[in-house]
Amino acid sequence: MLKEIHEGPKAIHETLLGRLANLEIDGFLSEGATSVKLVACGTSYHAALIGKYILEELARIPASAELASEYRYTQGPADRPLVILISQSGETADTLGAAREARRRGCRTVAITNVLGSSLTRETDITVYTRAGIEISVAGTKTFIAQVVVLYLIALKMAQDRGALGYAEIDALKDELRSLPRAAQYVLNKSTEIRALAEKYGNARDAFYIGRHAHYPVALEGALKLKEISYVHAEAYAAGELKHGPLALVTPSTPVIAIAVQDPTYEKMRSNIGEVVARGAPVLAIGTEGDKELPKAVDDVIWIPSMPWVLAPVPVSVAFQLFAYEVARMRGCPIDKPRNLAKSVTVE
Ligand code: F6R
Repeated sequence: MLKEIHEGPKAIHETLLGRLANLEIDGFLSEGATSVKLVACGTSYHAALIGKYILEELARIPASAELASEYRYTQGPADRPLVILISQSGETADTLGAAREARRRGCRTVAITNVLGSSLTRETDITVYTRAGIEISVAGTKTFIAQVVVLYLIALKMAQDRGALGYAEIDALKDELRSLPRAAQYVLNKSTEIRALAEKYGNARDAFYIGRHAHYPVALEGALKLKEISYVHAEAYAAGELKHGPLALVTPSTPVIAIAVQDPTYEKMRSNIGEVVARGAPVLAIGTEGDKELPKAVDDVIWIPSMPWVLAPVPVSVAFQLFAYEVARMRGCPIDKPRNLAKSVTVE
């Protein structure tokens, strides 16, 4: 897993290669789509949820994400969204079932997968490949990062086709995407610091992850990584939801991992952090380099470089992957093969 986390920057680079300049993405066409539905399971579902926020933000198209196991057994509305199915393996039974259901509903379907010629590619109209290289460890890491990168490409393409962003804005984002491998590497270079933080926080029985907007699914993914490989019970919440119930569980023995990078919800996150600090919870924040105020409000900070906030889910996710890895290592867990889990879930 550690090797695959460290391959994140390369996965980003390869996934962007030859696609950015003209936004030609394996024949992906956005023509005629009036809405988008993203469907997946597990970690890929978290990429789908990030995709929903990115598509709405950049392409101004209505987008929603749904778990494949739910989507396949619902009727769905009468409209026909463009359905994007995301699966690292391309063999997940529920995602394949959802692809068939989308076709039955008459929707155009797009697969995002890492495996050439996998079953999903045969059940969909178009396939866009992530180019993360083979992933062996059960927990998805570099493939998740590559899925998010494909979603940036699709969002930029749709933004261009729909005229939602001007050429200058699109060009600026393309440049920032080219720097994304460096942003991921920046976080990887902090592995010693992240190991020390894992030792400080990793003995907890329960932990909370909080984030807002596109960082809410990043929090969900951070909590999933921690649960599956370190067996620490972790829950993620959209930070605004804390006061609607979960705050009852926040105590000095429940660390809160808070995504407080510079984005439009930063001030709101700061007040949410205040709410958990008032209950005595230790707070480990993820912040944007240069933020002088954040360290005064929390116990520790993992820094990401300054960048347009829509791209920040990538370095934040890399930090969470490393953090989960280090906690699992400290606790002596079988990191690459966690109990009860399989790399590819081919049964319902
Ligand atoms: C968790 C993880 C799983 C998978 C899920 C879907 O780290 O890897 O949650 O994301 O089983 O798998 P794919 O993407 O192959 O459809």
